[in-house]
Amino acid sequence: MIEISNGKILVIGAGIMGTGIAQVAAQAGHQVALFDAKDGANTKAIESLSKSLENLVSRGKMSAEKMQHTLQNIQPIDHLSKAQDAILVIEAIVEKLEVKRALFQELESVVSKDCILATNTSSISVTAIANGMQHPQRLVGMHFFNPVPVMKLVEVVSGLQTDPAIANAIFGLAQAWSKVPVHTKSTPGFIVNRIARPFYAEALSLLQEQVASPFEIDSCLKSAGFKMGPCELMDLIGHDTNFSVTSSVYEANFFDKRFTPSLVQKELVDGGLFGRKSGKGFYDYSSDAVKPNIVTPDPKPLPSKVKVVLHGAQPLISFFSEQLEAINLKFEFDEESDWSGISYNQIEIRITDGLMATEMDHNAVLLDQSFAPYAGMHLAWTHSTTASKELMKSVENFLINLGIQPIKVIDSPGLIVARTIAMLINEACDAVNQGVCTEEAVNQAMRLGVNYPQGPFDWLEQWSAADVAFLLDSMDDFYRGERYRVSPMLRRKSCEDLLNE
Ligand code: NAI
Repeated sequence: MIEISNGKILVIGAGIMGTGIAQVAAQAGHQVALFDAKDGANTKAIESLSKSLENLVSRGKMSAEKMQHTLQNIQPIDHLSKAQDAILVIEAIVEKLEVKRALFQELESVVSKDCILATNTSSISVTAIANGMQHPQRLVGMHFFNPVPVMKLVEVVSGLQTDPAIANAIFGLAQAWSKVPVHTKSTPGFIVNRIARPFYAEALSLLQEQVASPFEIDSCLKSAGFKMGPCELMDLIGHDTNFSVTSSVYEANFFDKRFTPSLVQKELVDGGLFGRKSGKGFYDYSSDAVKPNIVTPDPKPLPSKVKVVLHGAQPLISFFSEQLEAINLKFEFDEESDWSGISYNQIEIRITDGLMATEMDHNAVLLDQSFAPYAGMHLAWTHSTTASKELMKSVENFLINLGIQPIKVIDSPGLIVARTIAMLINEACDAVNQGVCTEEAVNQAMRLGVNYPQGPFDWLEQWSAADVAFLLDSMDDFYRGERYRVSPMLRRKSCEDLLNE
């Protein structure tokens, strides 16, 4: 086993990521040499690090002694040769293949042959960076997330030639630094940037089809447990950055239509509407901007005679049963029902299975999916375009009485949360099916790398592979593109579900 818990670490690139990596390594007790090609970058990095550590000390989050030690452990250097005794190099320079390649080839003539070389690249193939090295087996990806001292996840990326013992040593080192490492193969987007694509893509498709507004989409997904909705998150990341990651994953997959970037986002980029940093994206960040809002009417009394039946056993159904009890409304249970939802008098309010309401019936009503429902949550709903207005008003009032804030959207397959989570599960299945990582790694990576409330395989456990596959098949039929094709792994799991029924 390769041991790197002690020894000098050379961090190259004193930008946002390199400074964070240097801090974490120094805090863990390593001697850190920090190098940057740009004059003054080192000094600037140390100054900004001192400020942020002082801030931690003043808030009681770090002792003054720890701050001293951390800063003492970092030595800015002006030439790579001054760190020839390093046991590990972590590169965090500009995201350009040729520049990274040249650096690693140069490093091989500087450091010892046992020194491990790691790249913090977020999107370039580790296999490609290693091409041209004398010892490509010693190059590994060590992909931190921003801000490095805060974010727990580290993707340990193995290229085609990476020595597994080296990947394991980096895995152990990340653990020693109190991080949560996951192994991944070097494929476009690694784990997080790949599996997260549908979170943005589905929102952008919904916007393109005018199904709902950015604020409505964000409200529904935040009610589903996501810390931020996709539209506000894209505004925060910056549409230029988000569009470029999507485009690079699309190109790297030989223009697989499933990863096609969105025209909605391209328009924003072309117009310089990058989001928060430019003052405007989906939302307006100027001081006098009117904040979007959703007003839910107060509940009106329900008619004295109503018949309510709960169908299925999904979390939303258990929630409805609690809410019905709370308002003293009698109901029956049909757990064996072949659909999930709630019937209100003669109206079936079904949890979406991927069909459009208008395909189903004159007065069909659909509700979005929810795995952690709570009173006051926003939930998308829709009805067939032929539905009676009177009837739909009474459905909306019934939903409000059940404690949710219903958001009526244009009839479209999979609504908002269901289609987004189904697509995240599908992409996660594809990654595992292609040997990129394990199911456990996916769950950890998505929870810790992008703060998802649960991992895709956690959702799959609460849903069912057969239902997710059915929803995606329905969407695939509807859109007749390639985006919604079911992953071979999800299909297998779905067939197993059906065989076991
Ligand atoms: P940055 O622009 O803040 O810093 C890069 C630094 O590298 C600059 O100080 C620059 O002077 C220096 N540099 C450029 N070429 C060099 C060379 N040949 N030798 C030595 N120094 C050189 O960039 P940032 O954001 O810190 O990103 C660095 C790397 O980390 C990139 O590969 C990026 O894709 C990756 N990354 C970035 C994340 C982010 O959120 N910013 C997240 C995860 C990975």
